[in-house]
Amino acid sequence: HEQVGAMRNIISHYFDGHDVNINSEIINNVKDADRLYIIGCGTSYNAGLVGRNYFEKWAGIPTEVHLASEFAYNVPLLSKKPMFIFLSQSGETADLRAVLTKLRSVNADYKFLVLTNVDASTLSRECDYTLLLHAGPEIAVASTKAYTAQITVMAVLAEVLRRTKGRPQTFDMSHELAVIASAIEGVLDEKSVVKELVDQNLLDTANAFYIGRHLDYYVAMEAALKLKEISYVQTESFAAGELKHGTIALIEEGTPVIALLSEPVVASHTRGNIEEVKARGAKTMVIAMEGSEREGDDIVLPKVQMELAPILSVVVTQLIAYYTSLGKGLDVDKPRNLAKSV
Ligand code: AGP
Repeated sequence: HEQVGAMRNIISHYFDGHDVNINSEIINNVKDADRLYIIGCGTSYNAGLVGRNYFEKWAGIPTEVHLASEFAYNVPLLSKKPMFIFLSQSGETADLRAVLTKLRSVNADYKFLVLTNVDASTLSRECDYTLLLHAGPEIAVASTKAYTAQITVMAVLAEVLRRTKGRPQTFDMSHELAVIASAIEGVLDEKSVVKELVDQNLLDTANAFYIGRHLDYYVAMEAALKLKEISYVQTESFAAGELKHGTIALIEEGTPVIALLSEPVVASHTRGNIEEVKARGAKTMVIAMEGSEREGDDIVLPKVQMELAPILSVVVTQLIAYYTSLGKGLDVDKPRNLAKSV
């Protein structure tokens, strides 16, 4: 519910009219890299999967995304001029600190930028540069506004890199981010529709699936994590095109499958996957964006700038997790077995 305010905070902090308020040293260090390595855990990692597309598409810099817990022990073959971008809401995650220590032992000259929600956090102190998320304290264990804030700040950074490198502009970033903030408001105004969908389909199931393609697949990964961690429904996310390569064997009568369809270019293929699972008895729910929608879809989102659509579509999946947890009488804010540094 605070994500509208967080988005507007970020826009007002990082944009000054047409100008972008990001330190030129940060811009130059990122701009001059021949490869970016985005590193995070859990939800932050999932945000990185979306942000990678921005740095590649708008800034023209090859970018990889890695799990911190893997990277520390499996450092990939690094490029000649790497730049490391850590994503961490808390700025305290030990897995990331382990990566920082490991990489500094490899080359003391490496530079590190952290996107974090906590000023003066350990990673903010130990990395060379910090970009704050300005999302306000995130108290619940499940990370929600930090995810959308991380994607938004990566979009802003990629935009200023685009400008600095003189690469073509396809849309007005601050305007489109403001459009999304208003669209999130609209989703929250209609949240009873999401509750109804959950009450009908998810309160009695032991498992569920999210499917999507490209950016919708990355949102599906975050959606599955949210549903798992606060409702304890065993939820998996699949690249929709992968179902036929094995996982469709898990579909049986009544299995809930939630399909995310933002991008028209891939929507028709995902529609095919929806029919495949329906034919095997799945209970399907479709979250589509205007332009990809069809009669009978459960939720239709207003059309926003395609690459930024994850910031909006994820809010529906956050509400799905929220209402499933509430409907099962669970503690939404403090799920079992988990803790959070606040
Ligand atoms: C997300 O809902 C989880 N709470 C968890 O995956 C979290 O994103 C992860 O532990 C990373 O935390 P950080 O962003 O503070 O580093």
